[in-house]
Amino acid sequence: MAIDTTAPAGGQKVALVTGSANGIGKAIVQKLAADGYAVVINDLEANKEKAEAFAAELKKQGHKASVALADVSDFEQVKNMVNSLDRLDVMVANAAVVAPVDFITDDHIDGWQKTFDVNLKGHLLCYKFAAIKMIAQGWGGRIIGASSIVGRKPEPGRMTYSATKWAIRGLTQQAAFELGKHKITVNCYAPGLINSELAQQYMASSPVAAEMMNAVINTSAVGRIGEPEEVAALVSFLVSDGAGFITGQTVSIDGGIVFT
Ligand SMILES: NC(=O)c1ccc[n+]([C@@H]2O[C@H](COP(=O)([O-])OP(=O)(O)OC[C@H]3O[C@@H](n4cnc5c(N)ncnc54)[C@H](O)[C@@H]3O)[C@@H](O)[C@H]2O)c1
Repeated sequence: MAIDTTAPAGGQKVALVTGSANGIGKAIVQKLAADGYAVVINDLEANKEKAEAFAAELKKQGHKASVALADVSDFEQVKNMVNSLDRLDVMVANAAVVAPVDFITDDHIDGWQKTFDVNLKGHLLCYKFAAIKMIAQGWGGRIIGASSIVGRKPEPGRMTYSATKWAIRGLTQQAAFELGKHKITVNCYAPGLINSELAQQYMASSPVAAEMMNAVINTSAVGRIGEPEEVAALVSFLVSDGAGFITGQTVSIDGGIVFT
């Protein structure tokens, strides 16, 4: 029997997904809306039109959807975004940037700060303000983050990005340990190559990137790229009542690349 660890005070549950005007985040929003959540689409101001068009599309489908523009790397913006919500049951910290191809032997650290600010600080802020709100609500909740296959194993030219994705696993464990007593579970997904704008841009960015990505596909057990909807299905399960005994985990969704 499923254990309901997120018994709400009644009414429709609310799920906020960061970086959800595109790609994996967009698919997660679509899936959680279908699961019955009122969904909040977060993205950067620059993606306002896309986010609003997506919200309008969801409303046409009969779902409750709104847009909350904020830069996840900005303390005040994340705090205000979370505090502006009537309630929050699910936080999916999905937004990230992909760092340019980089190696330990490069004589610069271009891209380091931005990648850490968006990917790691962004996760920290989303976890933090979601946790504070969920504790105040008193009925628990679900927090999900986005790691990566390169948060589990090295790949050529992914030094900075990989470091953020490893750190997100640590943050997830630490938050899960601290928040379990409040009926809040914290987990993250670790995708292999998923067919999104981010992946396409990265593959087009340099021959090293394209070669590495093709190697990822060719060495996986299933031998294909994954789809955003497949990650969304995993998130849907991790936020469900049935997943209440799973916390602190990084769940691989990579078509069989990392076997642990
Ligand atoms: N696509 C893949 O192959 C893959 C593999 C492993 C992990 N991931 C992870 O999955 C997540 C989603 O990736 P995706 O492929 O859908 O990426 P994407 O680039 O298609 O979408 C990311 C979204 O985040 C938004 N964003 C960027 N910076 C932001 C900020 N500071 N504040 C708010 N929003 C911001 C972007 O505008 C964009 O809409 C990321 O965390 C990524 O690292 C993706």
